[in-house]
Amino acid sequence: MKFDTPAGTNPIDQMKVVGKAHNRIDGALKTAGMAPYAYEHHDAVNNAAYGSIVGAGIAKGRIRAMDLSAARRAPGVVAIVTAENAGTLGKGMFNTVKLLGGPEVDHYHQAIALVVAETFEQARAAASLVKVDYAESEGRFDLKAEQSRAIVPENDGAGGRPDTDTGDFAAAFQASPVTLDATYTTPAQSHAAMEPHASMAAWQDGKLTVWTSNQMIDWTRTDLATTLGMQKEDIRLLSPFIGGGFGGKLFLRADAVLAALGAREARRPVKVAMPRPLVPNNTTHRPATIQRIRIGASRDGKITAFGHETLNGNQPGGSMEPAVVQSRFLYAGANRMTRNRLAVMDLPEGNAMRAPGEAPGLMALEVAMDEMAEKLGIDPVEFRILNDTQVDPEHPDRPFSLRQLARCLRDGAERFGWNRRNATPASVRDGRWLVGMGVAAAFRNNLNLPSGARVRLRGDGTLIVETDMTDIGTGSYTIIAQTAAEMLGLRLDQVTVRLGDSAYPVSAGSGGQFGANSATSGVYAACVKLREQVAQRLGFNASDTVFADGEVRAGNRVARLRDGAQEGEIVAEDRIEWGDLSRTYQQSTFGAHFVEVAVDSFTGETRVRRMLAVCAAGRILNPQTARSQVIGAMTMGVGGALMEELALDHRRGFFVNHDLAGYEVPVHADIPHQDVIFLDEADEKVSPMKAKGIGELGLCGVGAAVANAVYNATGVRIRDYPVTLDKYL
Ligand code: MOS
Repeated sequence: MKFDTPAGTNPIDQMKVVGKAHNRIDGALKTAGMAPYAYEHHDAVNNAAYGSIVGAGIAKGRIRAMDLSAARRAPGVVAIVTAENAGTLGKGMFNTVKLLGGPEVDHYHQAIALVVAETFEQARAAASLVKVDYAESEGRFDLKAEQSRAIVPENDGAGGRPDTDTGDFAAAFQASPVTLDATYTTPAQSHAAMEPHASMAAWQDGKLTVWTSNQMIDWTRTDLATTLGMQKEDIRLLSPFIGGGFGGKLFLRADAVLAALGAREARRPVKVAMPRPLVPNNTTHRPATIQRIRIGASRDGKITAFGHETLNGNQPGGSMEPAVVQSRFLYAGANRMTRNRLAVMDLPEGNAMRAPGEAPGLMALEVAMDEMAEKLGIDPVEFRILNDTQVDPEHPDRPFSLRQLARCLRDGAERFGWNRRNATPASVRDGRWLVGMGVAAAFRNNLNLPSGARVRLRGDGTLIVETDMTDIGTGSYTIIAQTAAEMLGLRLDQVTVRLGDSAYPVSAGSGGQFGANSATSGVYAACVKLREQVAQRLGFNASDTVFADGEVRAGNRVARLRDGAQEGEIVAEDRIEWGDLSRTYQQSTFGAHFVEVAVDSFTGETRVRRMLAVCAAGRILNPQTARSQVIGAMTMGVGGALMEELALDHRRGFFVNHDLAGYEVPVHADIPHQDVIFLDEADEKVSPMKAKGIGELGLCGVGAAVANAVYNATGVRIRDYPVTLDKYL
């Protein structure tokens, strides 16, 4: 089904099942430990051996020699894989750096060997006996030092042009009576998913099965086939349950490749789990950015000139962190400029992490907007509303499909008690605490990917949905069941959802907050086809057939749904594809974050006291799972504002704090009351579901709202994240 005209009225609008709060249907399995993760498919294979990854001990250079003799003699060792015996490996679409290094080493902790043994402990012990003689060379590790050598990348990291110019920014900025020119920095961040990367591989008759923890089944299956020089039809990839991804599991990584190679070498199934301390340097991270923002405005607060430049580093051939994306869409202003620059470096590979682009971009932009509002003497909520736009500012003939940013800001201000904020910084005290409030706009583009599904109506009137969509903890199982139940007039418990298996139709997968809307739209398409087939079998006219309460009704004729599946089962498969509406209309999601903080005037300890998010993201398919996404994202935003930083050793070129003891993320005690409001929207230009993404929007702007609240509390403007107490001095 091609979606190329606004959705109009359709069965989803009944909202009998869709749009209702519902517990995650996989929740009980997950909390009871009954949902098998990649490393836990104990029943699937016999006689599995365990692989332990050896990560490079230098960031840049060559392996002169590897001495494997002690490791080979160690108890229980079955096989060792290195670049020497792995055969020729291809490189997939989605990883920049080789997943098995050697003799060249491209970054610290790049995998250079896998030691396979009878037990995990034996494999780990033997791996520690691998001796490597390195010829270390100079590396490029300092982003600031590389700034002058930065290159113009092919694109902005999100498929847009690296540079955009509208009107005459330089002249307009010069002529503006009120201006801001400020530079902001965001650090490298780690996804820190609860479940580290893990895979289990088994070969049979030249065919490979891999159980893994991955957001994108088809991308990863395809890249694994390319890497191993196989046909993708000869690989089955399964990822039915995932302990978090946040973008770190979008792509094929070393655990899956090495499990496959290890199993081939050992001639038996092999499991590879990445120990937590390997994850930050071996896999991907969100790269650090340096962002310069210039805003010029008239005295009455209208933006006349708007410039945003960003720089990040990455491996040769690596991509941009698309930090200027939101600046192209969020505020009006006739004269505009954006720039992307990329420094080629030798740090681990930077890549997508939750809301790539907008998350760090808004950490800069929304502080700049706060600074500008103060210079103008305008309330920061009003300043944003004053510069709201209903069209894409770079392409004024292109309207937004639906944009209620101003309402998010107004409703949020009222709910939060924004009128009680004292605009003079450092003027509100609560004992020894300095108290302040901050606001930021939230923005994240809505993306849609093609997505397929198969639905099987059984003779007993129940339905099975199959798609290779994944559930990374977001609620995919649940909203897909809700969609199918709504379409066929069934109860939720009459629908079984099967996900995360390459044997099922290719879906959008989980990423870029495109999963929920795209995957349910694919299920919608398959259900439309099934309804037509059922109507035809019953001899009903499909166009006026109603599916409700387990029945099929047309005019005064009624049949049981199960009778539509006369021969035991009726199967329909389709996929949603996207037409021109995403070009005709700019599709984005919007919100507003409000935060109250208290800063201890003696110690500099910063506590978040209250948080509110107002979100406008189209139809909310399940308010409970959507709220969980948003409060999780708000929590992540507090981490980004106050704690998270991959600390870099500039001499040796690696992230030092590569575990959860050193890489701080918020715990429950750090997070106060969180309030979430969803505007009642249905965006019919986006999809038949009239929904948009929500999983990343909740993070976008949180960091700036916290930093702005800190400024309001203390009068200290910190432009260098995270906002730690040493920076108050
Ligand atoms: Mo997301 S960073 O595309 O999982």
